[in-house]
Formats: sequence, C-alpha cells, structure tokens
Amino acid sequence: MSAPTMEKPRSVKAPVVKDQPLFIDGRFVDSSDQKTFATINPATGETICQVAEASAQDVDRAVKAARRALESSPWKTMDAADRGKLMFRLADLVEQNAEDLAVLESFNSGKTVNDARGDVQGVLNTLRYYAGWADKIEGRTIPVRGNFLSYTLRQPVGVVGQIIPWNFPLLMLAWKWGPALACGNCIVMKLAEQTPLTGMRMAELALEAGFPDGVINVLNGMGETTGQAMVVHPGIDKIAFTGHVDTAKIITKAAADTLKRCTFELGGKSPNVIFADADLPAAVAGAFHAIYFHGGQCCTAGSRLFVEDKIHGEFVERLAAATKNRKIGDPLDIATEQGPQVSKEQMDKILGYVDLGQKQGAKLVAGGKRFGGRGFYVEPTIFDNVRDDMAIAREEIFGPVVSVLPFKGVDELLKRANDTNYGLAAAVWTKDIDKAHLYAREVKAGTVWVNCYHVVDSTTPFGGFKQSGQGRENGEAAIEHYTELKTVTVKLGP
Ligand code: NAI
Ligand code: MG
Repeated sequence: MSAPTMEKPRSVKAPVVKDQPLFIDGRFVDSSDQKTFATINPATGETICQVAEASAQDVDRAVKAARRALESSPWKTMDAADRGKLMFRLADLVEQNAEDLAVLESFNSGKTVNDARGDVQGVLNTLRYYAGWADKIEGRTIPVRGNFLSYTLRQPVGVVGQIIPWNFPLLMLAWKWGPALACGNCIVMKLAEQTPLTGMRMAELALEAGFPDGVINVLNGMGETTGQAMVVHPGIDKIAFTGHVDTAKIITKAAADTLKRCTFELGGKSPNVIFADADLPAAVAGAFHAIYFHGGQCCTAGSRLFVEDKIHGEFVERLAAATKNRKIGDPLDIATEQGPQVSKEQMDKILGYVDLGQKQGAKLVAGGKRFGGRGFYVEPTIFDNVRDDMAIAREEIFGPVVSVLPFKGVDELLKRANDTNYGLAAAVWTKDIDKAHLYAREVKAGTVWVNCYHVVDSTTPFGGFKQSGQGRENGEAAIEHYTELKTVTVKLGP
C-alpha cells in the first residue's frame, strides 16, 4: 500500500479545471445533444467551467452499459475477493490524490479545505471498509421442515441508480459506491448539478483502478430531467437518493410504475439537548459545531437547540460570544472556519428564514445577514426564545441558523424533541447516565449522540426515522439494501 500523501500546505491555490464530460461505459463523452451547463465557484459567483448535461438518451446508454457489465463482463464472474481488490486499489488512488481532491472539492462546493480533507479521509475509510466486505457477504442454511436443504444467497440488486447532493459530494459518492460495488452491483450515478467536479475525477480514478467498462457510470445533469430519466428507466432496479424530503416523495411516485427499490437519506431538524448538569464549555463547543459545521449544510445539523431553563441565559451568552468570533472567508484559505453556502439559491433560502424568524417574533442574538458583497456567504446566526410552532423550529433551513428553545424537565423535553416529521439525528449533553440513556431510548431518531455531535463512521448504520429516510447507509446495514435475498431449497433423496 502506498504511503499517505495528505500534505497540508498553509495556503492553497485554486485548481485549473477543464470542461467536464460524462463517463459512460468506460469512456469520457459529451452529451448526445451537446447540451452543457455552468458550474459556479460559490466563493465568488464566477463560472468555473461548462459541464455536459446528460439527456434521457445518455441515461439510457449508461443503463445499457451497466446492464451489459452486470450480465456478461468480467465483473459477473470475478471472485468476490478480486472485487474487493479493485476497491482497495481505488482507495489507494484516492489517497495518492487526496490533496488535489480536497482542493477541488473545496473550490466547487465552498466547504473549507480543512473540512474537505476530512471528507477525503471519510472516502478512504468507506471504500476500504466496504472493500473488506466484498468476500464476506454470506447466506445462511436454514433448518426447514421435511427432507430438504434450504439455504440463502445474497445477490446484487442489479443496476443501481444513485442520485447525490452537493453538501458532501465526495463522501456521498463513497457511501453509495462502497456497498454497491462490494455487493457486485453496477452503477449509474448522477452527481449534484452544483458540484460535478470531484465525482468526475473519481470516475477517472475508477478507470485507472481497472473497474471493467460499464460497472461505474457517472452522469451530470438536472434533477428534473436527468434524475427523473433515471427514476423512470425500467433498466434501473434500485434508486439510492440523498437530498430533500420533497424530492424523495417525487421519486417515490415516479418509481412506482417500475416498483424500484428505493433508499432515501433525507433531511432533519435534529434536537440537540443541553441539560443543566452538562459540562458547560464542552456543551457550548458541541452546540456550536452541531449547527455551524459546513455552514449548517448537513442533514444532521443540530438546528433545534433545547437548553434547560436554569442555564439558558449563560449558555446563549457563551454561544453568541463564540459565534461572533467565527472566521468566515475564502474556503481555500486554511485559516477559514466557514466558507460560502453552496449557491445563491441556498443563500437566499437561508436569508428568507432569517427574515421569517424575526417576523414571527424570535429574538435575533447573533448574525442574521449576508456576509460580504460577493459570493454566497451567510453570517452564523442565533435565534433565542424560539417557539415550537415557528417555521424556523420546524423546517430544515440548511444553513448556519440555530433556534434556541428553552425547556423545563425531561418529560416536557421528550415530547417537544419528538414533535417533528423528521428523525435523522439527536444529541444530549448531560453527566447523568440515567437521563442520557432515557433520551437515547425515547428520542425518535436514527442516530443519537451523547456528549458529542456529528460523529459518523463508515462502520455504523446511518439513516432516518419518520420522514428523514428509508433504509440505512454505512455499516452492515447497507449490505442488505444492495442485495436481493434468494432462498434455494433442495430435495434430499426420495
Ligand atoms: P434536491 O433534493 O432537489 O437535490 C438533491 C439531488 O437530487 C440532486 O442531484 C438533484 O439533481 C436531484 N433531484 C432533484 N430533483 C429530482 C427529481 N425530480 N428526480 C430525481 N432527482 C432529482 O435538493 P436541493 O434542491 O439541492 O436542495 C434543497 C434542500 O434540500 C436543501 O436546502 C436542504 O434542505 C435539502 N437537502 C438535504 C440534503 C441531505 O443531506 N439530506 C442534501 C441536499 C439538500
Ligand atoms: Mg432541488
């Protein structure tokens, strides 16, 4: 294995970027109708390059290539261990190109280069974790009634359509490629229209790693056209999607005709709960990280901050003081703590919620404005004395805006924390082991953190209760969602 090459230069230069193609059947190609769209640098609002926009015909070509690879290529007959080897090779290539990938990710998405480096490490962890799974996907033998031998096989679902968002372009790709490839599926992926650059770089690395043609296809395009063409395509067996809950509902309806398997990882309005007995400095730092990490553009963002009334005043003061010191700026500057939001659309959405919060009577304690005159920056923002029925306490803002909700006692808290259509993540800060475990048991969320936040690992299942999703990613759980379970029964003797 190659040595890690994660050098950490003090300042980072903007990368030079060529126009982007599509990756279909092992080749980089233009779209069939030559259509392109621009990808934007969110730090400046300037166009970076043009990107090929896949037509329905391109989707069809990609699906046919994936089907061919699934049914007749070396991929079908390859030993599972060799599938794993290809994935390890891809991980090694990612490691050798780690710094370039991180810089490109930062440049295109606006996330700080430091965060992007962390994401690349997450990609390595995920690819290697699932590479290890490739030859460990087993069935069972089952003691049935009668003189029969029954056993199960776990086989690939087939051609999987994967649609990812812009907030963690590389990491979401790895979360979807990892289990899909380990289980022997073939992939048609659509990258987010805002962030096409690193996914196409990953396609180059996959080609270099030696995946057979058609096993991985990577498309660019809009959701309503390219994405929709994938969702209705009869040659796609499963859709794995990460994004907005409303988009998942559209996909569910569109996928009904072909009854595709669908897994969804959607948004949240995660309750982050601070009890008066918590380690105060740690809880303040935790609440800060929970909401402001990546400018709040995380499905797990701790956007509903419940603070026990006894410490409420002091807690908000401390959080506000830290918030006012946050360094906002160029994501390629390693001193920057928060870059721009991904797009003007997202910036406007966030500022709209800030406006609404003020109109509905919440108390603005910090931030609340656009930052600077160019690029899509938003100040980290705190609303205090938020009521449960306000829009800023109910809807996903997906920006650096936290709603502080004071509470009294654990019973009231549990009811209010669960009063949401979402159920992705939740956290609690306390030194009382009883309260911690009670909350962990009773809160309706797929992930619960005790005295920590945003700790997500490729080894542990991740996904949502209620409208935050369907199915789980990461860990062994994802293997189930990328395989079909087959029962084989053999008659033994007369
Ligand atoms: P979105 O759900 O529209 O987009 C996510 C992906 O789905 C993109 O690749 C997009 O092209 C595709 N898509 C959109 N419409 C589609 C359709 N009809 N059929 C198939 N694919 C489709 O999310 P968007 O517009 O980028 O962001 C809007 C909001 O969604 C955000 O403000 C945030 O609240 C939420 N969101 C949640 C994410 C999460 O991690 N759970 C990630 C990104 C956005
Ligand atoms: Mg959308």
